[in-house]
Amino acid sequence: MNFRFWIEESYILNPQSKIQNPKSLLSIIPILRQNVNISLTKFNSIVYTLTVMLKIGVLVSGNGSNLQAIIDAIEAGKVSATIRIVISDKNNAYALVRAQKHGIKTLFLDPKESKTREEYDRRLVAHLKKEGVELVVLAGFMRILSPYFIKAYKSKIMNIHPALLPSFPGLHGQRQALDYGVKISGATIHFVDEGCDTGPIILQAAVKVEDNDTEETLSARILEQEHKIYSLAIQLYAEGKLEVIGRKVTIRQK
Ligand code: GRF
Repeated sequence: MNFRFWIEESYILNPQSKIQNPKSLLSIIPILRQNVNISLTKFNSIVYTLTVMLKIGVLVSGNGSNLQAIIDAIEAGKVSATIRIVISDKNNAYALVRAQKHGIKTLFLDPKESKTREEYDRRLVAHLKKEGVELVVLAGFMRILSPYFIKAYKSKIMNIHPALLPSFPGLHGQRQALDYGVKISGATIHFVDEGCDTGPIILQAAVKVEDNDTEETLSARILEQEHKIYSLAIQLYAEGKLEVIGRKVTIRQK
């Protein structure tokens, strides 16, 4: 969400986006609350762009290369979002280390401490809500969400899958594609519904399957595409450009 506002030249914005004497902003900031980024883009020297950062929570279980790509895109100013928390169901997930290196709050939530999937998801949701998370990003999170979770964040959960859905859902999408003998596979970003990899598709990227591909080589090329399209999908969501009607997601051209 972008706002443009006028600011008198005497109100200085420093590079850390701290506002000095921001009388004209004081009326806006409390409404927008936290996570407001002041872009230093100047138009005719007195108009600045104010961007409201989308608050996201990322759920992980493993290496976290998609998380890293999202962090990098945010830090490069390509995604108007802030990661409020990274939660893992695995204590040793490298994704947690990646987040900590960037000063992002992390949490290991042990599934063994919950009797049922829903009980675990209630704890997850409570942490995400406490952080004000508006969009939940699944980045290699190896658990299926309960109906409770889906309802709590209805149409506000994204997942990435390493195949062109609806082909090869579930585990080992790359291996399934190779075993089937397809010539093209790829990556899919979709909203999460109650099924397994069945929600409305947001973006896809195709990857050619080579004759000598192994699961590892194909996975690596798919991963390169995953890293590009996940950030793009989050940015489209942050800009309010994704419209979901039934199964179809259209991208509004504003
Ligand atoms: C990716 O291949 C993603 O598509 C799948 O899990 C993998 C996670 O990789 N859902 P990483 O942890 O982001 O490196």
